[in-house]
Amino acid sequence: TVGNKDSVAETAPHFASITVLGGGQMGAGIAQTAATFNYTVNLVDMSDDALSRGQGYIIKSLKRVAKMRFKGDEPQQSRFVDDVLSRIKLSTDTESAAAGADLIIEAIIEQIETKRAVFGVLDKVAPAEAILASNTSSLPIGAIGEAVGDKRKGQLAGLHFFNPVPQMKLVEIVRTERTTDETIDRLRAFAKSIDKAPVLCRDTPGFIVNRLLVPYLAEAIRMLERGDATAEDIDTAMKCGAGYPMGPFQLLDYVGLDTVKFILDGWYKEGEGLAGSDLVRPSEKLDELVRNGRLGVKSGAGFYDY
Ligand code: 3HC
Repeated sequence: TVGNKDSVAETAPHFASITVLGGGQMGAGIAQTAATFNYTVNLVDMSDDALSRGQGYIIKSLKRVAKMRFKGDEPQQSRFVDDVLSRIKLSTDTESAAAGADLIIEAIIEQIETKRAVFGVLDKVAPAEAILASNTSSLPIGAIGEAVGDKRKGQLAGLHFFNPVPQMKLVEIVRTERTTDETIDRLRAFAKSIDKAPVLCRDTPGFIVNRLLVPYLAEAIRMLERGDATAEDIDTAMKCGAGYPMGPFQLLDYVGLDTVKFILDGWYKEGEGLAGSDLVRPSEKLDELVRNGRLGVKSGAGFYDY
């Protein structure tokens, strides 16, 4: 069942060592946030290049946080950045990083086969009590964890963060039919310990936020395609009329158009309760932007130029 029971969350044990797989925006943000709250973190990616890119995101974001926290005090700012960085160890060795962790958070590429294989390996090498969590935004947790052995199925869950991770308060904890209450309590305690607001939901496409957000973003694109209003005016309308911090086109560019296209295509094809639905109908306009390499802020252009 889904609910917001706070029960043992506050007293549940936290984690001695956390391993984050994937040094992209999300993985780096998760590693940074956990390390900021004194956790020891192993950040794993496939190459040194990927790891140094991830570390680059972390340093940039930490400097931003440090500037806010310690206004005008540069020595204190750099002490803060160095201190947090000292708790993040970089590694290209998934197996040894997983072997010493009691919480493993996967934030790698959104490919079901790749994730499945990784979870199969994690199940074999992680300590018996370790929780295996995925930060996927659109794939079913149950399917990702198919290769996880029966013994650990109760310790498999979704742990979904939002971009930018250090700033966004929400974490969705996603329970499969097998996830135990203890696992949920431990994850909830963890989320609270890094100053996040955890919510609990079932393993359905998009969980809570993306289930509502993605159809909204898709409808904004259709509105533009129909010529109802300009992107600028739709953005202004949602910011000033609905209090959103970003309009839908700013948010599309921020999240990445390839990511949104991937989610729409996947759900339209086989999302539980969504396949074939107009809510998630792929968009010509979006496909064309992605085809032309206009992926949003990260590529320098999307609906807007940067
Ligand atoms: N790292 C650390 N801190 C950051 C940051 C980053 N990358 N980006 C912004 N911040 C912090 C700033 O330091 C500032 O902190 P303060 O409140 O302590 O002063 C605060 O965020 C506000 O930043 P700015 O003043 O520079 O800019 P904005 O007020 O425009 O806020 C924003 C930026 C937080 C990104 C805001 O525009 C926002 O909330 N946008 C919506 C983001 C959103 O909806 N994210 C969810 C996307 S969906 C998703 O992630 C799911 C995925 O699965 C697809």
